[in-house]
Amino acid sequence: MSQTMDNLREAFAGESQAHTKYRYFAKIAREEGHEDIAKHFEHTSDQEILHSWSHLELVIGKPTTKECLEMAIAGETEEFTHMYPRMATAALNEGDDFSFQTAQEQIEESKEHAAQFQAILDKAQKRFSALSKIEKRHAAAYQQILEKL
Ligand SMILES: [Fe+2]
Ligand SMILES: [Fe+2]
Repeated sequence: MSQTMDNLREAFAGESQAHTKYRYFAKIAREEGHEDIAKHFEHTSDQEILHSWSHLELVIGKPTTKECLEMAIAGETEEFTHMYPRMATAALNEGDDFSFQTAQEQIEESKEHAAQFQAILDKAQKRFSALSKIEKRHAAAYQQILEKL
């Protein structure tokens, strides 16, 4: 992978975290009664998400809705099959009951999210296959025109 691709992934991660962090900071500022500061964090957070999207677009391009669902399922599945089980084991070994409990809850949530995305994908499958037939027809039509040129 190129250095630029690595940098884009890093920038995507950084901007995504900034977005989430500023939302959290806004919540804290609001709880402490600093409404103006909370608003400023939210305003900046809205810009950070746009920065992260522009990096993400360069990393993954513009996938179709079907591909987005497939990626979402893969991501959630990675969470409940690897990431959180690994975290649960480490927390257990370190006697960190709270983190163990958190990891267990996240496993259940990620499973639920994966199942929900899968159900949507299954339900939309007909729609997607109809779309791909239309796209194939369009591609064939363009090909015919190209061949005549
Ligand atoms: Fe930024
Ligand atoms: Fe999730």
